[in-house]
Amino acid sequence: MAGGDKSNNPVLLQVENLKKYFPIQGGKGNAKWVQAVESVNCFIRKGETFGLVGESGCGKTTLGRTILRLHEPTSGKIIYDGEVIYDGANGKNQPKMLPYRRKMQIIFQDPSASLDPRMTVGEIVGEALDIHNMCKTKEERTNRINELLETVGLNAEQSNRYPHEFSGGQQQRIGIARALAVNPEFIVCDEPISALDVSIQSQIVNMLEDMQEELGLTYLFIAHDISVVRHISDRIGVMYLGNMVELGASRELYDNPLHPYTKTLLSAVPIPDPEVSKTRQRIVLEGDIPSPINPPSGCRFHTRCPYATERCKQEVPEWREIEPDHFAACHIL
Ligand SMILES: Nc1ncnc2c1ncn2[C@@H]1O[C@H](COP(=O)(O)OP(=O)(O)O)[C@@H](O)[C@H]1O
Ligand code: SF4
Ligand SMILES: [Mg+2]
Repeated sequence: MAGGDKSNNPVLLQVENLKKYFPIQGGKGNAKWVQAVESVNCFIRKGETFGLVGESGCGKTTLGRTILRLHEPTSGKIIYDGEVIYDGANGKNQPKMLPYRRKMQIIFQDPSASLDPRMTVGEIVGEALDIHNMCKTKEERTNRINELLETVGLNAEQSNRYPHEFSGGQQQRIGIARALAVNPEFIVCDEPISALDVSIQSQIVNMLEDMQEELGLTYLFIAHDISVVRHISDRIGVMYLGNMVELGASRELYDNPLHPYTKTLLSAVPIPDPEVSKTRQRIVLEGDIPSPINPPSGCRFHTRCPYATERCKQEVPEWREIEPDHFAACHIL
């Protein structure tokens, strides 16, 4: 959480009732849908790190990519820096993304898969500069590539090498240099350290934090493990089966989780302090995560929630501000 309290910063990104369904072919020619993201509401403030957590398959990557319109949303609304960049009510008539592509970047989970193996590092970073006409002369371009490589802890002499000549951590640094090349404002960091050795994970996180402070960046930082984002996030959103179920300041969410699902997630996090540990009961969820192709009715968590009632099976819980700046969707709150 570089740079102190961001809770009064203006909103950079606003997401309203965002939905993303993927079509899949069902039996007998019937189209079915994967309901990957369902009615998500959230906002991200300028300069903050918004941590997005939830189990694998709950829709984190889909939400991140849909916000960037790398996936076209199914419905809902996205507002970036006061401009509507998607409004489902307008059907196919949507704003062009090119002006926003430069401002909104992504760092991928698997660095090796996200770098073209046939391109040198210099070409990879240079391509990003070219797409957005960032440099006027060849010399300016070369200098900028070298500067970017140094910013991410590589050196200029490495610009003629190919991605496979680098370690996983170095490949992720190349991916970060590519994202930074176009002077972005907002970066979706999609589990940028999950594929890396534990020993270098903190180096990458520290580098991202330093850059945030230096360049005033805003991050949507995705992780499947809440303990990864806890310390670096200003606010955290928790997803379950395509829904955002709770959202609050990082500290508040950690100390005072409201939603039954968040409570179970946190109960699984080891607590170093034995006194605190004693007071936190471990809750084990029964059953598997249901399929997003045919999600449970009402509250999607009802099949596994220890507090579920008849109402939960029938009625979708409303997304509400339960306490100031602390949101959740649950009938018993
Ligand atoms: N392109 C796609 N086509 C069909 N289904 C998809 C596609 N991308 C993701 N999904 C499905 O959407 C759900 C959410 O996936 P994802 O967003 O990758 O979750 P997470 O990042 O939280 O692990 C999963 O059930 C996944 O299989
Ligand atoms: S709405 Fe019902 S099923 Fe859903 S989390 Fe709340 S108590 Fe559990
Ligand atoms: Mg993912």
